[in-house]
Amino acid sequence: MLAVKDLSKSFSSASGDVKALDQVNLVVETGQFASIIGKSGSGKSTLLSLLGALDIPTSGSIEVDGVDIAKLSAGQQTAYRANKIGFVFQHYNLIPNLTALENVMLALEFGGLPAKKRKARAEQLLTDVGLDADQQLRKPARLSGGQQQRVSIARALANHPAIVLADEPTGNLDSETGKKIFDLLHRLSRSEKTTIIAVTHDMDIAGKTDKTFKLKDGKVTA
Ligand SMILES: Nc1ncnc2c1ncn2[C@@H]1O[C@H](COP(=O)(O)OP(=O)(O)OP(=O)(O)O)[C@@H](O)[C@H]1O
Ligand SMILES: [Mg+2]
Repeated sequence: MLAVKDLSKSFSSASGDVKALDQVNLVVETGQFASIIGKSGSGKSTLLSLLGALDIPTSGSIEVDGVDIAKLSAGQQTAYRANKIGFVFQHYNLIPNLTALENVMLALEFGGLPAKKRKARAEQLLTDVGLDADQQLRKPARLSGGQQQRVSIARALANHPAIVLADEPTGNLDSETGKKIFDLLHRLSRSEKTTIIAVTHDMDIAGKTDKTFKLKDGKVTA
């Protein structure tokens, strides 16, 4: 279970403090598929980065299976990210000089999969998200935005994470491909009990998830 209590995050800027998150409370059960909606600037990406221990809250707690991840040491947070979390970033964050296949294989290497098994698993993951053999051997610059998005999804799933945090995973895809990716994530939450938290602008998608949280000016309103 993931339980967020009174979570706040402020950033200081020239014009004063920005409250990106303001006393957020939410609970997502293990294996649930939750969506987060809200306007640009409402705090969605900030919330995901706190849930993934990529940033530290100003106040409040984030309990994952009873452990407050905000209170872990830097080394423990790194282990939490490596062992539990799969990230799909809003801007993909693929490594430009590696092919799609190598990007996924690198994640498998960090995850400790033996070298002999990496290629076959990476090929399977990329095939599952809909990249063909030729596309798998291209570097990100030679793939479309939607294809890069799919590589980042394959990479996020590589090490069987307990929690997938996805920032607009279907935002750059046509509706048919977006639906396939959504179905893939949905199957994963059911078959592997993976908890999925996805930011989306797509109300069709949000409507099909187990739970939807709406953010407005850093607050959960629904
Ligand atoms: N590192 C930062 N420094 C200063 N302000 C920040 C920082 N990161 C985010 N913010 C501010 O916090 C607020 C929430 O930003 P966030 O990126 O979480 O929004 P979002 O809901 O993901 O928006 P979008 O839909 O455009 O991706 C915004 O006002 C943003 O300008
Ligand atoms: Mg964002």
